[in-house]
Amino acid sequence: MKRIVLFASGSGSNVENIVDYFQKKQKVTIVCVLTNNRNAKVIDRCNRLKINNLCFNKTAFSTTDCVLNILRDLKPDLIVLAGFLLKVPENIIQNFPHKIINIHPALLPKYGGKGMFGDHVHKAVKANNELETGITIHYVTKNYDEGAIIHQSKVEISSTDNVSAIAQKVHQLEYQYFPVIIERLLNKDHGE
Ligand code: GAR
Repeated sequence: MKRIVLFASGSGSNVENIVDYFQKKQKVTIVCVLTNNRNAKVIDRCNRLKINNLCFNKTAFSTTDCVLNILRDLKPDLIVLAGFLLKVPENIIQNFPHKIINIHPALLPKYGGKGMFGDHVHKAVKANNELETGITIHYVTKNYDEGAIIHQSKVEISSTDNVSAIAQKVHQLEYQYFPVIIERLLNKDHGE
């Protein structure tokens, strides 16, 4: 059985989509969803879906080994950031090489870095009158949005699309591709 640990900070619609996808699969289990936000909607989703979830303290996350030790106990084959907004500290990155991936709601290297998350990204894309946007799934390194790219998909933007329409288009791509890419990574040896 392959083990996935998810991190999320907000709504968690990607978490729910990933859980739905793997509930139909025999060889993959979502062992826990970790969040830094005790008010996050993702917690309600997990409780409804009967998925283990755990809230941690933001300062402890970045300054101690407490979340690292939790992860060691959970023994994940893959750690997936699905709408997670904090920088992952180096102690965790060093202990899980090539095992932490993130989804970003734009075509990196454009529209990445600190402060670029969720609607902030889509607003910047709209303000620049981009003709396309998309998603990037990438490995996580100590800097925001800089790890090796695993997958990108694009979608066209029309001049009449507002920020919410752009966000919806990007979310559709996320729902379509993120679980499939996760499954592909689990099926190959990504340990090297
Ligand atoms: C997703 O669009 C994800 O790509 C983005 O947050 C959203 C979370 O939505 N992540 C980032 O911006 C990371 N920089 P969700 O909570 O509904 O899954």
